Amino acid sequence: TPINCEPLKSLVRTVPDFPKPGILFYDITTLLKDKAGFAQMIDAFAAYYIDKDVDLVLGIEARGFIFGPALAYRLNAGFVPVRKPRKLPAATAKVTYDLEYGSDSLEIHLDAVQPGQKVVIVDDLLATGGTMEATTQLVRQLGGIVVGLGFAVELDFLKGRAKFPDYDVYSLLHYNE
Ligand code: PRP
Ligand code: MG
Repeated sequence: TPINCEPLKSLVRTVPDFPKPGILFYDITTLLKDKAGFAQMIDAFAAYYIDKDVDLVLGIEARGFIFGPALAYRLNAGFVPVRKPRKLPAATAKVTYDLEYGSDSLEIHLDAVQPGQKVVIVDDLLATGGTMEATTQLVRQLGGIVVGLGFAVELDFLKGRAKFPDYDVYSLLHYNE
């Protein structure tokens, strides 16, 4: 059974009305700077994925970079950055996805994932799931096998998980409001 991370919620700071009125922001910087807290997060991810024969951990810019490399190291896997547009120097695959207002794009190097490689994608937050869904499309384009989607925090009430019926979604902390 997965490690219970619920006690770590005491280290998460809630900030009302950020980034706009009415939004309660779950600020994990107070958890990340706690040495035991950060270690337990990476331990929990590592325990969950250690037996899945993971080749690559993908982190989504920017906040996925907080967890991806630490987890990749623990899994003896490589790390691949999925980046905002025009940041990667070599040939890329690109995906554009909808936001509340407008759209955004993410890119990955075409040679970052070889067909058949097993990939875990990590990010700090599962909200609507749009960012992660776009990233799964990039991995599929390259022929990678997505064996897991890992999040530090999942906002259950936004039902982002419903976008991923065919994937294993694992979140350390869940919030219902
Ligand atoms: C935030 C967060 C996730 C995403 C979650 O990233 O870090 O990546 O939104 O939202 P979603 O599930 O509705 O897609 P953001 O684009 O704000 O940028 P950052 O990581 O660079 O701060
Ligand atoms: Mg992000």
